[in-house]
Amino acid sequence: MTHDGALPEHVRRNRARWNAEARNYAAGGERAWARAEPTWGIWHVPESRLGVLPKNLAGRAGIELGCGTAYVSAWLARRGVQVVGIDASPAQLATARRLQREHGLHFPLIEADAERVPCRGAMFDLAISEYGACLWADPDRWVAEAARILRPGGKLVFLVNSPLFTLCVPAENGVAGDRLLRPAFGMRRVEWPDDPGVEFHLAHADWIRVLRRNGFEVEDLIEVRPEESSTTSYEYVTLEWARQWPSEEIWRARRR
Ligand SMILES: C[S@@+](CC[C@H](N)C(=O)[O-])C[C@H]1O[C@@H](n2cnc3c(N)ncnc32)[C@H](O)[C@@H]1O
Repeated sequence: MTHDGALPEHVRRNRARWNAEARNYAAGGERAWARAEPTWGIWHVPESRLGVLPKNLAGRAGIELGCGTAYVSAWLARRGVQVVGIDASPAQLATARRLQREHGLHFPLIEADAERVPCRGAMFDLAISEYGACLWADPDRWVAEAARILRPGGKLVFLVNSPLFTLCVPAENGVAGDRLLRPAFGMRRVEWPDDPGVEFHLAHADWIRVLRRNGFEVEDLIEVRPEESSTTSYEYVTLEWARQWPSEEIWRARRR
């Protein structure tokens, strides 16, 4: 990978953040790798309920943008996808490589910035990101890269916090409440006081605009509603809240 100094400031900060955090994410990665059926987001809603993945994936080429511990890539590889995982953090990729060895399931893992994917254009049928580059990279850049590396007709799938959640969660160590705490207009780059990273949160109109500008047609927006029995290890939202309002959402778009 290019040396740190060549990376944009927010990518450098997020890389350092994830290098430091990797050890705290290893256990979650281990549990997710061991799951037979994909489950999505912090509430682990099963694929059979949400229908996130495109049909007929076997033999297709896929890429995970900001793969972290690479469990999403592992689920795809088990479905016959020729998958590649890329991530900016070598420490996250080290966990992913260990889990590959433990599960005897190998696919390429590349240390790279999703804003500059080191692949030629029109190589992939599916690009996917679960709280990966879609949350931590600049949407103007990573969506443009996704458009470049997907073939016409290729699918883009990504899961992020909902804008409603982002408007309702307190800046410091809080749990989402039922009041809007910040303006929706102008929301984009978000830095939380207790977190060294840089996140990007867009209103729905801005996601639609950036996707269409880069040659995507929006096919679906799934607002994830957890089941009554769902649990999460994250403390920033309660089940009661997430049963009333979407705490996370999944975009599905098609490359024209
Ligand atoms: C919450 S993890 C999500 C990945 C995966 N779903 C998981 O939970 O293991 C976020 C990942 O995005 C990666 N990331 C952040 N910015 C990135 C960028 N610009 N390019 C590639 N990866 C990036 C981080 O290094 C981190 O591993």
